[in-house]
Parts: sequence; C-alpha cells; structure tokens
Amino acid sequence: MSYTGPADKEKYVHGVFTAIARRYDLMNTLLSFNRDKYWRRCAVARTGLAAGGRALDVCCGTGRLTLELAKAAGDNGYVVGLDFCRAMLDIAAADIAASPYGATIELVEGNAMALPFAADSFDCAVTGFALRNVPDIAAVLAEMRRVVKPGGTVVSLELAKPSAPVFKQLYYLYFERLLPLLGKAGSGTDGPYSWLPESLRRFPHQAAIREIFNAVGLKDAYYQELTGGIVAVHVGIK
Ligand SMILES: C[S@@+](CC[C@H](N)C(=O)[O-])C[C@H]1O[C@@H](n2cnc3c(N)ncnc32)[C@H](O)[C@@H]1O
Repeated sequence: MSYTGPADKEKYVHGVFTAIARRYDLMNTLLSFNRDKYWRRCAVARTGLAAGGRALDVCCGTGRLTLELAKAAGDNGYVVGLDFCRAMLDIAAADIAASPYGATIELVEGNAMALPFAADSFDCAVTGFALRNVPDIAAVLAEMRRVVKPGGTVVSLELAKPSAPVFKQLYYLYFERLLPLLGKAGSGTDGPYSWLPESLRRFPHQAAIREIFNAVGLKDAYYQELTGGIVAVHVGIK
C-alpha cells in the first residue's frame, strides 16, 4: 500500500471501505472473535450520554456505534452518524431503518476533518476504529471538541498496542500474519485487510494519543485498555 500525503490517504481509505462495505460487519465480528460489540458498548458507557441527549458518531461506517448511542439516548435523544463513504452509509441506513431507532438517528455524508456542524451542538462526540484512517488525528479531535458543548465528552475507541509479553507476540502473529489471509478469504479482496495491520503500525501508541487529546485542549484525558490492550478507549472533556 502506498500513499504520499493526506489527500492520497483519504482517497485510499475511501476505496478500502467502498470495497469491503458489504462484508464489513461480518468480518469485524469474525476477526475480533465477537469482541467488537463489547468494545463499542464500553465506549458508549464512557460518553456519559443520558436519555434525551445529543450525540455525534464521527466516521460511523455501517452504524454499529451509532445504534449503541441511540440506545443510550432513548426516544427523546438525537444521534447523528457521519461518514464520507456512501457504501458504508447505505448499509447503516438499511440497518437503522430495520431497528427501533430510525426516528432518533440522522446520517450525514461528510468529512471528519471538517465537520458540517455548528460549535457546541452535541453532548458527546464519539469515533470508533477511525483515527487510524484519517489524515490528521489532531485535526479530527479538534473538530470533535469544537462541536461538543462545554463540559461535553470526546471519546475514541481504537485499536491499540498491547504490551504484555507472550500475549503481545501471539497477538501480533495473528494480527500481522493470519488476519490479512482470513480477511482476504472472507472479503474476496486483498488490499483492505493488509491495510489493517499497516494502519496500526503507523498509528501512535495509546499514551501518545492521550497527548494529542491534551494538545487539542481536551481536559482530564485518559484511556482505558480493553482485552489485554489490543483496543483502547480514550476520553477527554471540553
Ligand atoms: C473501520 S471503519 C469504522 C466504522 C464504525 N465507526 C465502526 O465502529 O465500525 C472506519 C470508517 O471511517 C470512515 N472514514 C475514514 N476517513 C474518514 C474521513 N476523513 N471522514 C469521514 N469518514 C471517514 C470510513 O469510510 C469508514 O466507514
């Protein structure tokens, strides 16, 4: 895989998700051994979103995290899912229409680097498995901070770098070697599941992500590692 700059990365990532949209949810569940649902629930719990609240899901993809947010926001809540990939949004729209949350959720086609929302619009902004994919992590977090109300929460759920010896070696053997082969077999296409380990290699350690939270002005930033540190939830307050 190769890209030379931010615009190239966007184009490449857009192509990846267009190619795998139809298989994305199934592959996620299989490749994460069904842990992905639990990880999303943990992230939503960290938002502090209450019934009747307003939430934004940045890079919502097929809407799995958006639906979890809608459960927390309840009938009087309002949840927006934003993504730049039409193919992923189409899956989200179908799943949301078949759920009890159709009236609560709005889907928006847009770019995480320049969110099309006024400042102070949401009680929380969340992003799941997306910061690895954007051209500029700080720019996206700054945008998320801008659109939440003062006192609101910014949360990122993302793959992370485990540190425990043995577990770490076994995990990387799976993630770097086996997963691309399984991904290729399951999705029928090669590139996207080679991008997954490569994107994690290029991604900063969870401690460095917390520093970016601090740098964009998010207060009390912390992270919680899940499942032995293969995933982390970062939280910061505006
Ligand atoms: C790994 S998927 C995550 C989807 C979803 N959040 C989840 O929890 O399954 C990453 C998503 O980020 C979207 N994405 C990547 N870069 C983006 C950008 N700059 N603006 C908007 N969406 C973007 C992709 O289209 C894709 O749907």
